[in-house]
Amino acid sequence: MTRRVIIDTDPGIDDAIAILFALAHPELDVAAVTTVAGNIGIETTTRNALRILALAGQGIPVHPGAGRPLKRGSRTDTRIHGVDGLGGVAFPEPEEPASSEPAHMALRRLIADAPAGTIDILALAPLTNIARFVEEAPDVARRIGRLIAMGGAVREPGNVGPRSEFNIAHDPEAAEIVFSAGLPLTLVPLDVTRRVRADAVYLARLAALGTKQALVCRDLIAAYFTGTSGGESRPLHDPCVPLLALRPDLFATHSMRLSVNLGEDELAGALEPGEHALAVAMGTDAPAVLDLLAETLGQALSSPRTTSHQ
Ligand code: RIB
Ligand code: CA
Repeated sequence: MTRRVIIDTDPGIDDAIAILFALAHPELDVAAVTTVAGNIGIETTTRNALRILALAGQGIPVHPGAGRPLKRGSRTDTRIHGVDGLGGVAFPEPEEPASSEPAHMALRRLIADAPAGTIDILALAPLTNIARFVEEAPDVARRIGRLIAMGGAVREPGNVGPRSEFNIAHDPEAAEIVFSAGLPLTLVPLDVTRRVRADAVYLARLAALGTKQALVCRDLIAAYFTGTSGGESRPLHDPCVPLLALRPDLFATHSMRLSVNLGEDELAGALEPGEHALAVAMGTDAPAVLDLLAETLGQALSSPRTTSHQ
């Protein structure tokens, strides 16, 4: 059964892989992409989303969102994703302009216009856009099908602080708003994403698939080896989100009550025992997940989808 999804993203190498996987899987219908500042500034994340869709030949609308967190300063880091945000990997120039409708309004319109529960939001970035949507239209936000978000660290050390993960730490206030909204939220933290990595054999497997999205994902992951020991890539954080959306049986999720540290010190954005009930993916069958990723990237992309631009 096909699921309609909206992808909120800050591409980003791993975002790009997640988006290409979602576009290639026949059971995911990407209704729109919303962008946010995170890995890199909003102009670049938006341009990258347009470039990724141009490569995939999909005329899906891209709605630019927040250029900075709700209350804090923005901090980008080009060390991991490169100055262009895509590891210098060749992508075409955008074929379409970004939509003039901002992200939080597109989220609200699409969810309001669809039957309740029929659209999932796949969140691959700081939660600023989603928090703004939730605050402005809580009744509409309750019509979201599933909200699956990459973020946080439960037992794992953080990646931007001793216990803070980038997406949550970039905008802790937004995360706390989203966590407290009573949405059907599944969190995909570092505890599970760090188990999903590629090695040289996997790169060769992608190259042998021969499809354009498999070849570009091979190049993206190769760029993602920077700063590692060289044996394995950095974790494929964001692809875990659409993979869980399609095959929740490949992930072990637990109900937890968590809150977000809103302090100003190194613990800002850390997840702490709290009051908000959410599902948290804490385990996965990583070989099966990597198999599904490769098999899907090897499939021909469906004919170009052109969705009316708002
Ligand atoms: O901590 C990992 C997350 O931060 C991923 O979404 C990655 O793209 C970066 O945004
Ligand atoms: Ca991301």
